[in-house]
Amino acid sequence: MSATNREVILGIGGGIAAYKSADLLRRLQDNGFAITVVPTPNSLNFVGAATWQALSGRPVTTQVWEDVDQVRHISLAKLADFFIIAPATADLIARLAMGRADDLLTNLVLASAVPKLVVPAMHPSMWLDPATVANVSTLRARGFVVMEPEVGRLTGSDSGQGRFPQTQKIIDEFFAMSGIKRDLVGKKVLVTAGGTREAIDPVRFIGNRSSGKQGVAIAKAAAARGASVHLIAANVDMPDCDGVVTTHIESAQQMLAELEKNFSDTDILVMSAAVADARPMNSSSEKINKSDFTSIDLQVNPDLLATLSAKKTKQVMVGFAAQTSELIASAQSKLVSKGLDLIYVNDVTGGAIFGQDETEGTIVLRNGDLVPIARQSKDTLAHHLLDYALEQLG
Ligand code: CTP
Repeated sequence: MSATNREVILGIGGGIAAYKSADLLRRLQDNGFAITVVPTPNSLNFVGAATWQALSGRPVTTQVWEDVDQVRHISLAKLADFFIIAPATADLIARLAMGRADDLLTNLVLASAVPKLVVPAMHPSMWLDPATVANVSTLRARGFVVMEPEVGRLTGSDSGQGRFPQTQKIIDEFFAMSGIKRDLVGKKVLVTAGGTREAIDPVRFIGNRSSGKQGVAIAKAAAARGASVHLIAANVDMPDCDGVVTTHIESAQQMLAELEKNFSDTDILVMSAAVADARPMNSSSEKINKSDFTSIDLQVNPDLLATLSAKKTKQVMVGFAAQTSELIASAQSKLVSKGLDLIYVNDVTGGAIFGQDETEGTIVLRNGDLVPIARQSKDTLAHHLLDYALEQLG
């Protein structure tokens, strides 16, 4: 399962620990997951629908009778890549074990075959009751991952096994269940995306067709794999991603300044931005009249990758090349001249690839190996590039 499958249904049972799932929701979002919250009707006594709606940014319903036109118990089930049911009460576990479908959440569980994590929280005597013990073992036998509650003080004066686990423990268990790679934990990944704009005057600029989709896909993929990610976005017309620090810049010089601020403690730099090779010699602060707008004198922009690779210590550097001819030869020569570890080259004849969700091309490695990339989503390529970058990092 790849980290690009990121839709999670967060089921909320009717226990006091429901409020702790608000933090779980936030941390899942930080890890790049999109969350739909499906509370049981009783759980709304603890945390109301408005809270879940505000935190998830999505509508919240509890019954199959709401939004019937959307057939939510099937459409949501199809959308989901994972379920997390937290907290799971004794009653909810019993209903799941029996295969009941008496609210939206239990309908969804029946209608979906994706991996499911159940996080119980209840009084220790309910957890240890033979009925709950039997229900939990039924769920485990059916492939549900059921966490053990923690031992400690409960809501009242009692203590024992029944506490809702720490958020991080749930996240760790979830990643272990999901099979999503977490191989970039502790690594700093710096990504550039989009296309720089070089101002001619306050109205006009020299720009390019890069949408930033590939760079954003790389930033998201790296964050999902646990990296701490900084995205330098040049005129990217997409919302900032949760869990990624984003700096917006416009020109090549601004991009270089931001890169230089962040390069020294970076482990992997991915330069997917299309950087303007030149800028107007003089950018006019006044709009230039049509009659005076006859030619633009240019000066060359610095090569950002070459500038940074001269300061390279530990960094693995990944470049991009958008070409229309002599693809491999151009990529190989850029790999050497810019001091890169790998470069991804694609054929952009006729404007192909720009702004699209898919890409195809070749990864060229420093040892000369060529890895053909058949047509695939930019998200999938993002993971391939990170795999190779990580291999170089050692
Ligand atoms: N790049 C850079 N600084 C520049 C221009 C490009 O760091 N001034 C980076 C891009 O982000 C990309 C790689 O270099 O990762 C190759 O970009 P490309 O535009 O193909 O290379 P150029 O060096 O500009 O070569 P040319 O335009 O002549 O093909």
